[in-house]
Order: sequence, then C-alpha cells, then structure tokens
Amino acid sequence: MDRVSLCLCFILGTIYLSNSVGDEDIRCTTSSCSSATCDDIPEKCTRNITNPGTYMLSPDICNCCEYCLANLDENEACSVGDPSNGKHTSICGPGLSCLTVDGETDGTCQKMTTTCMNEQKSYDGRKKNGTLGQMETKPSCDEDGLYSAYKCIPGEICYCTASNGSRIFGQADYSTMSNYMNCDCSKKYYAGVDMIGRELGPHEHFRCSSNGDYDKLQCINEKCLCVDTSDGAPTYPTKSLVNITKISTDTLSCYTSKKVGEYYKTCESKYMDVYKKVQEYKAQGYNQVIGYEYPNCDLDGTYAPVQQNKTHKYCVDIEGNILTAVSKSSSGTLATSMNCKCIRSNLMSSTVDKPACLENGNYNPIQCRRGFCRCVDTDGNQYCVSGVCEYDESKKNTMKCTK
Ligand SMILES: *[C@@H]1O[C@H](CO)[C@@H](O)[C@H](O)[C@H]1NC(C)=O
Ligand SMILES: *[C@@H]1O[C@H](CO)[C@@H](O)[C@H](O)[C@H]1NC(C)=O
Ligand SMILES: *[C@@H]1O[C@H](CO)[C@@H](O)[C@H](O)[C@H]1NC(C)=O
Ligand SMILES: *[C@@H]1O[C@H](CO)[C@@H](O)[C@H](O)[C@H]1NC(C)=O
Ligand SMILES: *[C@@H]1O[C@H](CO)[C@@H](O)[C@H](O)[C@H]1NC(C)=O
Repeated sequence: MDRVSLCLCFILGTIYLSNSVGDEDIRCTTSSCSSATCDDIPEKCTRNITNPGTYMLSPDICNCCEYCLANLDENEACSVGDPSNGKHTSICGPGLSCLTVDGETDGTCQKMTTTCMNEQKSYDGRKKNGTLGQMETKPSCDEDGLYSAYKCIPGEICYCTASNGSRIFGQADYSTMSNYMNCDCSKKYYAGVDMIGRELGPHEHFRCSSNGDYDKLQCINEKCLCVDTSDGAPTYPTKSLVNITKISTDTLSCYTSKKVGEYYKTCESKYMDVYKKVQEYKAQGYNQVIGYEYPNCDLDGTYAPVQQNKTHKYCVDIEGNILTAVSKSSSGTLATSMNCKCIRSNLMSSTVDKPACLENGNYNPIQCRRGFCRCVDTDGNQYCVSGVCEYDESKKNTMKCTK
C-alpha cells in the first residue's frame, strides 16, 4: 500500500472510530451516577448572556456531572496551566487568548492579533470614519482568530477559504446559499495535500459537492457508502460497503441516478480512464508513459475552471465546454494569470449586475455599477486605495487599482 491509500484508510478509519464513541460504556449505567458528587458549574454559565461558555462532557468516567467552561472577557485573569487538567473551569472567550509574561502560567485574556482579527479591527475602524467600500464585508474569524470557512461577495457568490484566508475550492450563489456551508470537505482536501505534498486524484480523496461540503455518495477504492454532507461521517456505519459496479437506489439510500453503477462525473470518468491506462502500462514495465493527458478535475468531479492544451489555456464550464480561450504565446499575462474566477462566478450567480470579466475570464480589476466604480482583487472582493473606495464612473480612466 502506498502512502496515499494508507492516508485514506486512516481518514476513513477515524470516521468509523469516532462513530462508535456514542455507544454506551457498559461500566456506566444510569445508577452509576446516583452517587456522583458534582462541583457547581461556574455562575457565568447559568446567567442569561450571549457566549456564556461551552457545555461539555464532564471529565469523570461516566460523564455524570454538568460541566461548563465559562468564557472569560477581555482583561480577565486566566491561566495557561496544564490544558488536560480536568479542573479547568474557564477559558478566554472567542477571539481572545491568554497572554502571559515569559515563563509564567498566569496572565490575562487579550484580543488575538491574527491577520483575520486585525482585518476585523481595520474594518470596524474604517466603518467608523466612513472609508469603507459599499461591497466590502467584515471578515469572519473563528474562535482561534483564524479565517472561518467562507467569505461572501454581497449579491454575487460565497466561496470557501482556508484558515489563512486564501480561497479554496467551493462556491455557492449568494442569494440561494442557505446561510450555511462549512467547506469541511474542501478544507480536509488541502490539509491532505499539505501533508502528502502533491495534489490528489479523484480516486484518492473524498468527493466534495460544489459548495465545498461532502458529496453524500462516496466511493473509495471502488467501495461505496453514504456519508453526512457536513462532516463526511458514514450515515449508516454498520452497513457494509457496496461495490462501485453495484450501486443503485436499492443498495444505497443516498443514490439518486436511475442507472446502476454510475458514480464518476464526466471529468472524473476521463481521469480514471487515463489513470487505468497508465497503470496498465506501468504493470507491463514501462516507467515513462507519454501521450496521455489527465484532465484537470475539481474536487466535486466536474471540470476545473482552467484547462490547457499545448497551444492554449481556456476556461470551461463544469461539463468541460469551452467558455473562452487565450493563446499561450499571447503577449502579456493573459495566459499565465488566467484563473477564470469571474466567468465561473457569473455562471453560478443569479445577480443581474454581473461583474465584468477580462478576456481570460478573470475579474476586471475595475468594476462599475450604477454610476460608480470600484477596485476588486482577483477573487472579486472590493478594496479601497488610499481611503478612496468608490469613484464616479466619469473618473474611471484615472483609477489606479493596485493593492
Ligand atoms: C434570555 O434573555 C432574553 C432577552 O434578554 C429573553 O428573551 C429570554 O427569554 C431569556 N432566556 C431565558 C432562558 O431566560
Ligand atoms: C480610517 O480608519 C482606518 C482604520 O482604523 C485607518 O487606517 C485610516 O487611516 C482612517 N482614515 C481616515 C481618513 O481617517
Ligand atoms: C493557505 O492555505 C492553503 C491551504 O492549506 C495553502 O495551500 C496555501 O499555500 C496557504 N497560503 C499561504 C499564503 O500560506
Ligand atoms: C466489484 O465487482 C466487480 C465485478 O462484479 C469485480 O471485478 C471487482 O473486483 C469488485 N471490486 C471490489 C473492490 O470488490
Ligand atoms: C487547443 O485548444 C484551442 C481552444 O479550444 C484550440 O483552438 C486548439 O486547436 C487546441 N490545440 C491543440 C494542439 O489541440
């Protein structure tokens, strides 16, 4: 087994394990708790305020007691003592971390200074002094001060982000997004890539859906199962896996196609054909197999936005139909910078005021709407230049969009 399949088994294995944790431990019955003596939970947890604390399983063997870690406010005293110590009753609240002097374990809760938190601060400041762009959104940070799962461009799309804020696979129409996408599938993929050090083929990773969550049907090493779309855990963990040639509405509850055994989407299917041919040649002892090109597939099995052949780079839709093409020998950066993000976003978003795209499918750095123009980055987010956010459309030619 190579490292990748080991890694996949590891991921699948942990899912099965975490699923069986819910089983009741035979040592713990309802009567085990009758004699338990419990400490009071922190007063803060019982008060009716937002973000009082986090209720958790208590650290005693049978989880008899109510247990709550109270959230501390800014400047409150905290301790970074042994985190496995079951006697912990409080932690610094969201966006705060326990700041101590070198070598000390006691300190105070202070605002984190992560890039995301700093960006929030800057947003709030600029909102106060009126230098905020109309289409800017406040970055949302998680409890550790890192970027949360996704970012939205108002009226256009929402897209998944890695914890460092960079855009990763997964997007949804702004107006139809059911205010929830957790992008876990997409995030796990990139974590896997960081660990293994190369990109993974469709047969090597969990398949995502277009919004970065898990596809409810998964086949790995030709064995298939149904999973929860938000965390990828098997929906029926006790059922045995189904051979990929036998998947149907009878064998898997999450299967929807009328045809039996249909798992791979067009791009994945092409990829797997090439993959199998290459494996055959390798089995015959050829180390270098030339003449076969893998299509560039996305994490949901559809065609990735940017494809290329020997002479051209081109943007395609999810079925692989060409939307726009530029010659690789064209002067300038049209081909090298091609990302197709604008043209793809416009296909998905239902907005009437669609952003303007360049010839290579990228966002035009200057976007105009209803008489005003603004600068946007390569993902389509507005930014301001020296405190100026909106320009009158008549001044369009004098605009300089550089970050
Ligand atoms: C908590 O407070 C809110 C408003 O202050 C009130 O509507 C709600 O009923 C309270 N909940 C409880 C459990 O007391
Ligand atoms: C507005 O606030 C931001 C963030 O606090 C600051 O960087 C900027 O210089 C301020 N601009 C003006 C015009 O005061
Ligand atoms: C951000 O995270 C992604 C996903 O882990 C990684 O691929 C990328 O290189 C990171 N970007 C930077 C600037 O660190
Ligand atoms: C799935 O079934 C096919 C044909 O029935 C068989 O050739 C193949 O070995 C099976 N695959 C697995 C992984 O069991
Ligand atoms: C590459 O793709 C472009 C755009 O579809 C096409 O015009 C060109 O003929 C293709 N070149 C080769 C060598 O396949």
